[in-house]
Order: sequence, then C-alpha cells, then structure tokens
Amino acid sequence: MEYLKLTNLTKIYLKKIIAVNNMDLSIHKGEFLVLLGPSGCGKTTTMRLIAGLEAATEGDILLEGKSITGLAPKDRDVSMIFQSYAVWPHMTVYQNIAYALKLKRMSKKDIDIRVKETAKMADITEYLDRNPTNLSGGQRQRVAVARAMAVKPKLFLMDEPLSNLDAKLRVAMRTDLKKAHELLGSTTIFVTHDQSEAMSLADRIVVMNMGVIEQIGTPNEIYHDCETMFVANFIGAPPTNFFDVEIAVSNDNVMVKHGMFEFAVAKEIEASLRKYAGKIVVLGVRPENFDILPVGKGLLDSKIEFIEPQGSHTVVVIDIMGKHHKIISTGTFELKVGQEIGIDINQNNFFFDKESGKRIR
Ligand SMILES: Nc1ncnc2c1ncn2[C@@H]1O[C@H](COP(=O)(O)OP(=O)(O)OP(=O)(O)O)[C@@H](O)[C@H]1O
Ligand SMILES: [Mg+2]
Repeated sequence: MEYLKLTNLTKIYLKKIIAVNNMDLSIHKGEFLVLLGPSGCGKTTTMRLIAGLEAATEGDILLEGKSITGLAPKDRDVSMIFQSYAVWPHMTVYQNIAYALKLKRMSKKDIDIRVKETAKMADITEYLDRNPTNLSGGQRQRVAVARAMAVKPKLFLMDEPLSNLDAKLRVAMRTDLKKAHELLGSTTIFVTHDQSEAMSLADRIVVMNMGVIEQIGTPNEIYHDCETMFVANFIGAPPTNFFDVEIAVSNDNVMVKHGMFEFAVAKEIEASLRKYAGKIVVLGVRPENFDILPVGKGLLDSKIEFIEPQGSHTVVVIDIMGKHHKIISTGTFELKVGQEIGIDINQNNFFFDKESGKRIR
C-alpha cells in the first residue's frame, strides 16, 4: 500500500491561478522523494497542501490509507521545514527542540532523552545551551532539522532547506541529511530547484512544470530516459541539444535528415519513428553524446565558437546552422576557438513529437 497518496490534488488561488493541477502521486514508506521544477511550478503549494497550511480546491490526501485532507495541520503528524531558518531566536537550541515535544505532553525525562538523542544526530550537541542568534546559518538550519526530526513525524517535508547556505556548506548538509534519513528511515519530501541536489538525494524525483507532473522516476531514469522535452531540457547541465529533423523512410531504412547531417536510426527504434515519415520531429542529444573528430571524419563539420574548461571535462560550444550547441569533450587534446572539427552523434539520443513535446521513444 502507498504510504502517502495524493489524488486529483488541485489548488487554485484567487479563482484563476492554477498552482497545482490535478496531481496524482504515491509515496512509499521510508522513501526520499524530491520535488524538482522551475520557480512557480507549484512545489511549495504542494507541500503546504500536504502539511495542511493550505486548503485543497479539489482532490484528496491520504496518509496510511486515511484521508487527512480535512485535518488541521497539528493533527496530521507531518513536520515541515522551510527555506528560512524557522528557529525561535528567544529560546535556546535545547528549548527549540523541546518545544514541540512539550506540546505532545511528553514527560520532562523523555523530552530530555529525545532532545539529546536528536542533537547528537544533527551534530549540534555542543550548542544546546546557545541561542540560535549566536549560530552560523548552517548550524541554525541543523537546529531546524533537529527540531522537526525530534517529534518523529510520519512525514517530513522540507522546502528548499539548504538554499540559504553557501555552496560548500550546502553540499556538506546534503550528505548529513542523507545520513539522517538512512538512520531514521523517515518518509521525506524535499523541494529544490537545484538538480544536482535532487539527483544526489532522491530515491525518486518528481519533475514538475506549471502545476503538473512531467515525470516521476529514479535519478537515472529522469536523466537517461526523459519522457518529455521539458525534462530533457531541465535536467542536465549543459541541457540536451535539440534539432528539428525530418523522418524519411526509404526502402528499409528510417533516416533522420537535418540540413547539416543525416543518419539511419537504430533498428530497434525504427518502428516507432516510421509513422512520422515525411514529418518533422525533434532530436534530443545530451552534450556527452557527441564525439569530436578531425574535420571531415564525422557526420558533420562545425566550428568551435567558445571553450569552457571545467577540469574533468570541457564544454565546447559549436555552431550548427547558426545555432549554438554545447557539447562535452572528455578528451585531453587541445581544442582552439575558431577551429574546424568533425562531429559524430552517437545512438544514445531521444526523439520527441514536435507538437506535444512527448518522447516518441
Ligand atoms: N498565496 C498565493 N496567492 C496567489 N497565488 C499564489 C499564492 N502562493 C503561490 N501562488 C502562485 O502559485 C504558483 C505556484 O507557486 P509556488 O510557491 O507553489 O511555486 P514554487 O514551485 O514553490 O516556486 P519557487 O521555486 O519560486 O519557490 C505561482 O504562480 C505563484 O505565483
Ligand atoms: Mg517554493
């Protein structure tokens, strides 16, 4: 059985802003689910609906099979952490963590045990007597995490909890969160618009766009098996390169034709492309799925416009029919701006329906 289930969940603000549109989503017990998507796509609204901070316009939220849609936030057994450090500055770290436990009418002794145990896990034991105002941003956010964890909620919601931290601390906290999750086995929904954060934390990623789910999958599925152009474009840096191509069926071959190149598609995808004969579809190629060859030796020739060294690899910006495309080179050979090169496109690519943006295969 699903642990948390959203059915037809919809939120319309002010009778016209559709923030969440008919969302269906199931979450397993113990799962770390990440909601990922551009600003305004409805991530926070989804979380607020689950936490009960916002009333759903339509749809239902079930936790362990029971509807919680009508329940007040405090009766839902759900903890939420926000982007801003929601710790109380007038209380010590200890009191911050103990507060929610007091509300639960736990005994003083049990509270003490729980606070210390949680503090140890969040690595903030030495700050228990301090005021949060005397802590760094990262330490304060640890307190917020500890406070939410201490109540052992059925569901743990985190809305961009790391976005106020500097890049290095952010990556360190990421690892800590993952450790804490493994230790506690808590069911977690985590919001971010940072795809590298999403990829490294998630059991499954939910990619959202304009209030709807574009795709749900493991980090690998989301990257290597994109279902829509939106996902192919949104996930991956640099993003997928897109080319309008014509599908031409001649004799036994299904050919892809572009002004600068053409090739026969792999046998296993011929069937799905055959019905597009004579039509334009979109070819999507990840930047690492090109090969750089000597000029004249590839599928097409191009000129290097820019070079962006990244250490482990180099991003090479090339011009194909007046459009810039970013490709990744892991070779160690010297490339120069203005240099003519040959390009090969390997068979690991996507085809999308130009109108719907959906993957053909
Ligand atoms: N209280 C509100 N009243 C009216 N419209 C709202 C309200 N809250 C959010 N919206 C709108 O709903 C849509 C979804 O907003 P939401 O905050 O869920 O996006 P988000 O994915 O969390 O974005 P971000 O990454 O910027 O935090 C947006 O168009 C937003 O302007
Ligand atoms: Mg938000």
